[in-house]
Amino acid sequence: MDGNGRWARERGLPRIEGHRRGAEAVRACTAGCLEAGVKHLTLYAFSKENWQRPPDEVKSLMSLLDRFLAERIAEIMERNIRLRAIGHLQDLPEKTRRRLDEGIARSAHNTALNLTLALSYGARTEIVDATRAIARAVQAGTLAPDAINEETVTNALYTAGTPDPDLLIRTSGEMRISNFLLWQLSYTEIVVTPKLWPEFSKEDFFAAVREYAQRNRRFGGV
Ligand code: IPE
Ligand code: MG
Repeated sequence: MDGNGRWARERGLPRIEGHRRGAEAVRACTAGCLEAGVKHLTLYAFSKENWQRPPDEVKSLMSLLDRFLAERIAEIMERNIRLRAIGHLQDLPEKTRRRLDEGIARSAHNTALNLTLALSYGARTEIVDATRAIARAVQAGTLAPDAINEETVTNALYTAGTPDPDLLIRTSGEMRISNFLLWQLSYTEIVVTPKLWPEFSKEDFFAAVREYAQRNRRFGGV
């Protein structure tokens, strides 16, 4: 979800205005998923690296997240969306973490769409965490090193139990992965749109899905 800052700058507004509008754009994207029958949507909302931003911006982003969780939970329930989160959630402010846990618990039985927020998320950190968990199992004698396979790693990641993404949409024209789901994206189709995240609409979502539908996925085959 990139381009909030640029969207604001283009309009002579403070960056936080861009983030505020960006939080609105989430609605368009989830609505698109519900209409198209997409079962999993993961939003890269805040990266492990984003903590390096100026303290004021970090604080504003956290209070936006807090408001998002407080204000949208009714809508999430009404739309039968299951809220989930991946990342170092322990890094979040305590109040926000509690709200998040509440939303996750309340929506745990919803079935229309799995909406995963990546928060304080970094893919390399995720792989390090998985490696530690695997190493501990080896040390405990419950796992033989030669028994470690791709499935072992997949199941040790935060995303265990969720299918690998079919489509990655990157907004604001940036051509990079930025430490997002590195393992899981191995065969994901990537669509880059020049649209800045705050102006990303349901139509843009459908356009990306249409582009995805034209791709010929071979997974290394012919
Ligand atoms: C993405 O927009 C929002 C977050 C990282 C939370 P940016 O803030 O990165 O926007 P640009 O890249 O400055 O336009
Ligand atoms: Mg950016």
